[in-house]
Amino acid sequence: MKKKTYIYRGFERFWHWNQALLILFLAFTGFEIHGSYSIIGFENVIRVHNMAAWALLVLIVFAIFWHFVTGEWRQYIPTTKLIKAEISYYITGIFKGAPHPTHKTIYNKFSPLQRIIYLGLKLLVIPVQVFTGLIYLFYVYPNNPVHVIGLDVIATIHSFGAYILLSFVIAHVYLVTTGSTPLSNLKAMITGWEIVEVDDEDGQKK
Ligand code: HEM
Repeated sequence: MKKKTYIYRGFERFWHWNQALLILFLAFTGFEIHGSYSIIGFENVIRVHNMAAWALLVLIVFAIFWHFVTGEWRQYIPTTKLIKAEISYYITGIFKGAPHPTHKTIYNKFSPLQRIIYLGLKLLVIPVQVFTGLIYLFYVYPNNPVHVIGLDVIATIHSFGAYILLSFVIAHVYLVTTGSTPLSNLKAMITGWEIVEVDDEDGQKK
């Protein structure tokens, strides 16, 4: 049975949209630092990149706290159940109008692919980006005290992380449009409300 459900809470939506804006802004300013284009000017762009980075760090601290206090971190526990069915749905089924192999419930907001990808972002890509960013930030010229590996290696990893995050955003925006209507997922993340299944807790079609 489907029912209109309050699925994304206030802080979660605040965190989601601010994280999205900050990551886009960090990518936009980061690629200017990288030398891909020149819009803001080198010194200023570094200043605003650093400010956005601190804002992202504060947001991350609050988000970690929220996920543990609410128990919502459990939504990211990975599962391989139905992951192959989901992959084949996105490769072929979706173009033939087949139904999605899993469905959303309040206990199971994320599909198997979402769980694994979001967990990878949270445990690997974002920490690597923050860690390399902080090394970059506190790298002291010319006699850096923590000269473990060269700054060029850190810059390359940090730029690679930026490509991964941008690729994620592109794929994410496409997948957002593949809900029950092209805008239903977007509306849910704006209002918090979505029509979802209420009759089971494991997100599988009975
Ligand atoms: C807390 C997180 C972050 C911190 C502390 C941080 C910090 C920095 C610093 C200090 C620089 C170098 C500025 C300089 O040359 O003096 C930099 C460069 C850069 N950042 Fe970030 N950053 C963070 C997150 C991000 C994110 C999320 C992205 C992209 C989505 C990003 C993309 C870039 C890029 C592309 C560069 C240029 C790298 C190069 O080729 O030298 N950064 N970042």
